[in-house]
Amino acid sequence: MTKLLVFAGSTRQQSFNRQLAHATAKLASASGADVTLLELSSLDIPMYNADLEAEATPADVIKLKEIMDAHPAWIIVSPEYNGSYTALLKNTIDWASSPVKGHPVWSSSNKPFTGKVVGLLSASPGALGGLRSLSHLNPLLQNLQCWICPQQFALGRAGEAFDEQGEFKSDFHRKSAQAVVDQTLWAAARLAT
Ligand SMILES: Cc1cc2nc3c(=O)[nH]c(=O)nc-3n(C[C@H](O)[C@H](O)[C@H](O)COP(=O)(O)O)c2cc1C
Repeated sequence: MTKLLVFAGSTRQQSFNRQLAHATAKLASASGADVTLLELSSLDIPMYNADLEAEATPADVIKLKEIMDAHPAWIIVSPEYNGSYTALLKNTIDWASSPVKGHPVWSSSNKPFTGKVVGLLSASPGALGGLRSLSHLNPLLQNLQCWICPQQFALGRAGEAFDEQGEFKSDFHRKSAQAVVDQTLWAAARLAT
């Protein structure tokens, strides 16, 4: 059973990306994955600052690294701000990728990233569904030695996409998210052998 981590780059209560992360996590569970749905709001992580880091890496950054490291496969659901991913997502990745000097586990750079299989989704109220955020997230994650799934999905008009139970209203949207789940789990299983 593949351990899959799912998280969204928004902490907004009514976030479309959080809704998409929840709906996708449900699909992944139904597909047999052992899913962890991480809410970034549950972590107390400040804006990255190297002076702060030199004093001590925040405890929740270590927790974040441990959660990421424990999952060979991830699905990241990215909002789009100004044609790119959010500061929250960048800050989360920056802290997670920053080596902890002298630490027995986390002193090597890229440790929670190298070799991870990552599926990418985005959601936006706009027609393009936040697609441009993914075009920026792809090279960032490749640079961190992740395997990026070519199958990706940008959910446009996201405000109309979910019913009151948080389920996909459209079969096409559900199948598109499922295709990302399927490829992520398939690739993670292939890489694990
Ligand atoms: C500063 C800012 C910039 C934005 N830029 C874009 C954009 O370039 N493309 C887009 O589709 N939506 C853009 N939006 C709208 C977001 O897609 C929208 O706020 C969305 O609900 C954010 O994701 P969330 O619902 O998961 O929080 C922007 C929103 C903000 C606050």
